[in-house]
Amino acid sequence: MASRANSPEFRDVAVHLHPYTNARKHEEKGAMVIERGEGIYVYDTAGKQYIEGLAGLWSVAVGFGQDRLVKAAADQLAKLPYYHSFAHKSHEPSIALSEKLLAMAPGEMSKVFYTSSGSEANDTAVKLVWYYNNAIGRPEKKKIIGRIKGYHGITIASGSLTGLPANHRDFDLPIANILHTACPHHYRFAWEGESEEEFASRLAGQLDELIQREGPDTVAAFIGEPVMGAGGVIVPPATYWDKIQKVCRKHDVLIIADEVINGFGRTGRMFGSDLYGIEPDMVVMSKALTSSYLPLSALLMNDKIYQGVADNTAKIGTFGHGFTASGHPAATAVALENIKLIEELDLVANAAKQGEILQGRLRKLLDHPLVGEVRGVGMIAAVELVSDKKTKAGFDPVGSVGQYCFDRCQEHGLILRNLGDALAFCPPLIIDEAQMNELLDRFEKALAETLDWANSKGMAAE
Ligand SMILES: Cc1ncc(COP(=O)(O)O)c(C=O)c1O
Repeated sequence: MASRANSPEFRDVAVHLHPYTNARKHEEKGAMVIERGEGIYVYDTAGKQYIEGLAGLWSVAVGFGQDRLVKAAADQLAKLPYYHSFAHKSHEPSIALSEKLLAMAPGEMSKVFYTSSGSEANDTAVKLVWYYNNAIGRPEKKKIIGRIKGYHGITIASGSLTGLPANHRDFDLPIANILHTACPHHYRFAWEGESEEEFASRLAGQLDELIQREGPDTVAAFIGEPVMGAGGVIVPPATYWDKIQKVCRKHDVLIIADEVINGFGRTGRMFGSDLYGIEPDMVVMSKALTSSYLPLSALLMNDKIYQGVADNTAKIGTFGHGFTASGHPAATAVALENIKLIEELDLVANAAKQGEILQGRLRKLLDHPLVGEVRGVGMIAAVELVSDKKTKAGFDPVGSVGQYCFDRCQEHGLILRNLGDALAFCPPLIIDEAQMNELLDRFEKALAETLDWANSKGMAAE
């Protein structure tokens, strides 16, 4: 007999602690169990269809149910389901993928190191920065600067790089030697009348001051997402990256581009670094690398870093770092096929094209009484809801109206993500024009209902 307790929704509650979930609320609400996916859609256990407006977690670039990725995984699993990369071993998929990634990556990259998640890749970046500076005789140069609202994952080191309070609070993070500089969000943090360029100069000046204050001989690296994702989809102000890079170069501070969301077409260019002229020393990739069909991440480094690291491994006798799953053959095989698909279907151009519809229609909502800001580039965007457009005041409690709007979207068959009171959009790169318009129609319905609700609660100023 079916009962609440033996439904998948509540069997889950009995056994599962969820990431990024209020566990007590989950006990009451139960899980939303997704059963299958097809193209831009996913379906729950009741058969209800949703447009996956966030591509899962910013990641399913080629959409769900892509047979070629399934076949790539199955073929590789049949041939060689697993092999490792320790102690000189390798296999064809990870060799071929490394060749491909080095050919397409921003900057002048020399080698690839594989991990399985964005967090692990960033953790490895931290360790490599430390190892490299020890190797070349600069043991004092160890501090790494992230940004407030930056997101780089949740392991002890990558979670420390992340600049969001929920990732630090009660986890005893950040660890020592990780610093955070200002968030480049013009709408929220620019002074009255300050242009984007002036704001960018001020932030670059602050970074310069921070490095001077800490001592340039102690600061090793700066890490940033070209466009910030999980911190609220924050597009940097004009000239920001040029100015930040100049400061880093002046102090011999390495630049790490976290392309985990931006990479593989999201911004309408292959990499966010291409869009902003970033020339990184290391590049972090994951998510759309395999469209998340299998877990995989990659840390690419330039030759300067590789040579320092390689010399040290010769001195010590090994490189004391690596994961059982580093360069997993099925994951790397899927990544190769996924990148082939991105190229064959010209999904980067599609992101630019459909991105114009997304950005254009969302910007038309700037007249809406709840919409304070619309931001984004290519096929990543956010709509920030405010209680008062003049003062840009948010809601009390923070996130309450964003959560309501998110729930209404879901009711209308659209899964987005609410980051506080901002709704984030990041649909699969295969989306077509009709589907993009359908996504936006569903959102507009939800937004209209959110306004009615906010008015009924006296939460909106106009
Ligand atoms: C920019 C960025 N870096 C790193 C990560 C961490 O990746 P993972 O969740 O695979 O550890 C994320 C995840 O959202 C991300 O957006």
